[in-house]
Amino acid sequence: MTKEIKNICCIGAGYVGGPTMAVIAEKCPQYVVTVVDINAERISAWNDADLSKLPVYEPGLADIIAKQRGKNLFFSTDVDGAIEKAEMVFMSVNTPTKTYGEGKGMAADLKFIEKSARQIARVSTSDKIVIEKSTLPVRTAQAIKTILNAEKKEGVNFEILSNPEFLAEGTAIEDLRNADRMLIGGDIHTKSGKEAVDALVGVYSNWLPKERLLTTNVWSSELSKLTANAFLAQRVSSINAISALCEKTGANVEEVGRAIGADSRIGPKFLNASVGFGGSCFQKDILNLVYLCNYFGLPEVAEYWHQVIKLNDYQKKRFSHNIISTLFNTVSDKKISLLGWAFKKDTNDTRESAAIYIASDLIENQANVCVYDPKVSKEQILKDLAYLHELDNVKYAHLTEKTINDRVEIVSDPYLACSESHALAIMTEWDEFTTYDWNKIYNSVYKPAFVFDGRNIVDKEELENIGFDVFSVGR
Ligand code: UDX
Ligand code: UDX
Repeated sequence: MTKEIKNICCIGAGYVGGPTMAVIAEKCPQYVVTVVDINAERISAWNDADLSKLPVYEPGLADIIAKQRGKNLFFSTDVDGAIEKAEMVFMSVNTPTKTYGEGKGMAADLKFIEKSARQIARVSTSDKIVIEKSTLPVRTAQAIKTILNAEKKEGVNFEILSNPEFLAEGTAIEDLRNADRMLIGGDIHTKSGKEAVDALVGVYSNWLPKERLLTTNVWSSELSKLTANAFLAQRVSSINAISALCEKTGANVEEVGRAIGADSRIGPKFLNASVGFGGSCFQKDILNLVYLCNYFGLPEVAEYWHQVIKLNDYQKKRFSHNIISTLFNTVSDKKISLLGWAFKKDTNDTRESAAIYIASDLIENQANVCVYDPKVSKEQILKDLAYLHELDNVKYAHLTEKTINDRVEIVSDPYLACSESHALAIMTEWDEFTTYDWNKIYNSVYKPAFVFDGRNIVDKEELENIGFDVFSVGR
């Protein structure tokens, strides 16, 4: 079925589609890569002459866009045109947790995937290799295949591959250029399936060594993505669980992390205790895994993984509770400064960021919250809080538009954010937070001067010498 690959289309110009296609364009000048999206505003931001306006902030991304855009990398709203022209179509639309109906709060919402599949079938007049890039529940490829085959034009053939993305935000470009592995799931037992897998292997072989290109069957590939995220999130919840015990016993979670990480069977990565993990993937993918396990009648397995999320919720609650109890059991009308809003450093992504939940808890306790983040816009911060209310107006009844307007202030100067504050809480591990003039900050805040370091990044001893009371996680 496969011809030579000349044109690649990617549906979805988000945090995954944008950087992934930028790196394919960079590494493969022989292909024309077109990234399409239904969101015209997003596409025009990708096309903005001012590279600081790109919709996704990732170190190194703007440089690639500057080099490739208009050459072999295009951003467009003409979804039909790009699909028709391409031999290979990546689906990289978002798959959020369902907010309605069956599977609400647990299952992945596949409506965008289904819509994209129908569009591909409707538009295509030539064979295509269709690639799942979005993280999807196991067996989604089968659903996509059924839709494509039911709606396709006569004589047109589709091959479906699963090619999950393992990039982490903040290091996406490096992760893509130098991926540990690239997973390609396909039907290698049929001739056309094997050809499709080979074609995608051909794309990645332009820059990745052959031994890093792993081919599996489709279901293994789909499940591997969920499993990888579940294992990573589990490590964070495991160390966070130990951080609670450290705080009670006088052990230091960093020392424990270093000690266990030195065991080569455990390894040193993903052992940083924190205010709780965030991001678009961990929670969503685990909930998805839990849903799948329950669906297939495996409640014990479901509960095992669900505990990773519950522990993460506990860690966030523990953090806000510590602020409130330390501030003499009330934060009412006190100014609490949140340093950082993104779910980790070096990204402007805020999805599921712990900061949102900490802010919500503080606002519920009538605090005035002042936020500073070097990369996240004011609009996004307000949107994140309003979204919680939209999601669950019982649990987040306190997040009305009026309360948000009255209680939340967003500033673009960190010193202003901290000034006249009753407590500072570090939510994101932005490097710049360690370089601040903490003496100057100390002189501008109410005393006792409290710092709650949700990322263990500031020098506790140095700040204590200045006069701060510093609370870290697990120490
Ligand atoms: C990705 C993956 O696709 C998701 O499954 C994974 O778990 C997280 O990362 P991401 O790129 O981060 O999603 O999502 P987002 O930044 O929201 O981008 C998705 C884009 O798809 C949006 O720009 C949206 O406008 C676009 N879209 C959505 C379409 O173009 N068409 C649609 O029908 C739906
Ligand atoms: C994750 C996976 O790492 C990636 O492979 C997958 O493709 C998408 O999901 P991402 O969510 O972008 O990537 O970032 P990641 O670095 O995994 O961090 C996730 C969350 O865990 C962040 O909030 C981070 O701050 C937190 N974390 C991570 C910790 O709290 N402690 C750690 O030791 C590591």
